[in-house]
Amino acid sequence: MKNVTIINHPLISHKVALMRDINTNTKQFRELVEEVTTLITYEAFKDLPTVPVTVTTPLETTEQQMIAENSIAIVPILRAGLGMVNGVHTLFPTAKVGHIGMYRDEETCIPQEYYCKLPQGIENKVVVVLDPMLATGGSAIAAVDMLKARGVKNIKCMHIIAAPEGIAKLHEAHPDVQIYCATCDRCLNEHSYILPGLGDAGDRLFGTK
Ligand code: PRP
Ligand code: URA
Repeated sequence: MKNVTIINHPLISHKVALMRDINTNTKQFRELVEEVTTLITYEAFKDLPTVPVTVTTPLETTEQQMIAENSIAIVPILRAGLGMVNGVHTLFPTAKVGHIGMYRDEETCIPQEYYCKLPQGIENKVVVVLDPMLATGGSAIAAVDMLKARGVKNIKCMHIIAAPEGIAKLHEAHPDVQIYCATCDRCLNEHSYILPGLGDAGDRLFGTK
C-alpha cells in the first residue's frame, strides 16, 4: 500500500516484544516506547528536505546538506502519544509540540475530542502525529482532520502497534498521509483492542490500572 511503511528491523522487533510482555513495568515500558519511537523517527524522516550550507573544516570550505531549522512539528494524541514525544526530540530537539486530546468512548469506540493546542505556523511544517496504538483508526483520522482544517499539508502518522483494520481506514480517509508503524498485528478483538497487542498503552505508560 502506497504511503504505508511497516518497519522491519530486529532492534524494533526485540523492543516491541519486551513492550508486549505483561511483566514489563511502567518504567521499562516508558523507556521502550521512547527507544522504539527514535528508531521509527530515523526511518520516517528519510525524505526530509535538506538545504545547502557552507561548512569550514580544519582543511577547507565545503558545501554540505542540513535539515532546515524549525521544519518539523510533533503532535501527540493524548494521553498515550505523550510517551513518544521524547523519542522524536532525541533526534529533533527543538521541534515544537502541539497537543490533541482525545479518548475513545468505551461503548462506541468513537473518539471524543477534549483539547487542541497547536504551535503557530504549524501549517508550514512537516507534522508528525504520534500515537502508539492505531486500532480502529478513528483517533488518528480525527487528528489528521483537525490538522488539515488548520491548513497543514504535510502529515506523517507514527504508531508502534497497528491493526490491519486501522491502517486500511486511515489510508482510505487520508491517502496522502504517510503512515509508519513498528509492527502490524493480527486483528482487533470485540472491544476493538489490538491482538496480540500490548493492552491499553495509556494505562501501561502512566500506571493507571
Ligand atoms: C488509545 C490509543 C489511541 C486510541 C486508538 O487511546 O492511545 O489514541 O486508543 O484507538 P482507535 O484507533 O480505535 O481510535 P484511548 O482512547 O484509550 O485514550 P488514552 O490514551 O487517554 O488512554
Ligand atoms: N488503545 C490501546 O491502548 N490499545 C489497544 O489495543 C487499542 C486501543
